[in-house]
Amino acid sequence: MLLEVRDLSVCYGDIRAVDGISLQLDEGELVSVIGANGAGKSSLLNCVMGVVPGRGGSILYAGADISGLPSHRRAALGIRFVPERARVFPRLTVYENILTGAYRLKGKIDLPGKLRMLYELFPVLEERRDQLASTLSGGEQQMLAISRALVSDPRLLLVDEVSMGLMPVLVDRVFDVLKMLNRERGLSILLVEQNARASLGISQRSYVIETGRITLEGASGDLMEDPKVREAYLGL
Ligand SMILES: Nc1ncnc2c1ncn2[C@@H]1O[C@H](COP(=O)(O)OP(=O)(O)OP(=O)(O)O)[C@@H](O)[C@H]1O
Ligand SMILES: [Mg+2]
Repeated sequence: MLLEVRDLSVCYGDIRAVDGISLQLDEGELVSVIGANGAGKSSLLNCVMGVVPGRGGSILYAGADISGLPSHRRAALGIRFVPERARVFPRLTVYENILTGAYRLKGKIDLPGKLRMLYELFPVLEERRDQLASTLSGGEQQMLAISRALVSDPRLLLVDEVSMGLMPVLVDRVFDVLKMLNRERGLSILLVEQNARASLGISQRSYVIETGRITLEGASGDLMEDPKVREAYLGL
């Protein structure tokens, strides 16, 4: 088991956004979490990354309890995060933005090789490499945020609502990239999405969360056939 969340809660004052969630992700798995606005998806992911504190429960990563670690220590263990509406550094160039993801990894990763891979995935980033990130479109900034996370060669990638604001053809492109990274390179990915169709389509297993609790879980193919999922999340 690469990631095991046990009975985790996240509270903001009196609001219990995550209410005793348990989930697992095996090494090499792509697992999705789907749910409506306000269901607690981002709170869950932020807590796994250590950006918001958890209340109770535990987070095990590669067998060790990481729930007490600050986010930079989690990052050093190979966990990378593409947050919701990920921000890039507007006054750095595209290339400099990517390099921020490799901070302190000089000599530990094959940077030229990683850059080649990223430019192959997102050719527009190579065309724009010396341009300020602020001049990129929203979709291009999203690609840059993903690239910044990938350049470090993570072991576990957390992705929050990466399809938001992207036109359908770009959603397909980004999901194809995530699927390829998972299937061909063995990258473990925990994907949080409102776009249930796309995320069920590329994940092996999924969880459905409603008001902070998991209400359904299973093989993504099975969930796609579930009448409740079809009605509430697939609009069928
Ligand atoms: N910093 C915060 N302070 C207070 N309440 C918060 C905070 N962040 C989130 N919440 C509340 O916690 C609940 C869960 O929010 P969260 O952002 O985790 O949902 P979500 O599933 O990611 O929703 P969306 O699909 O809209 O992104 C919501 O009711 C939200 O209003
Ligand atoms: Mg969210």
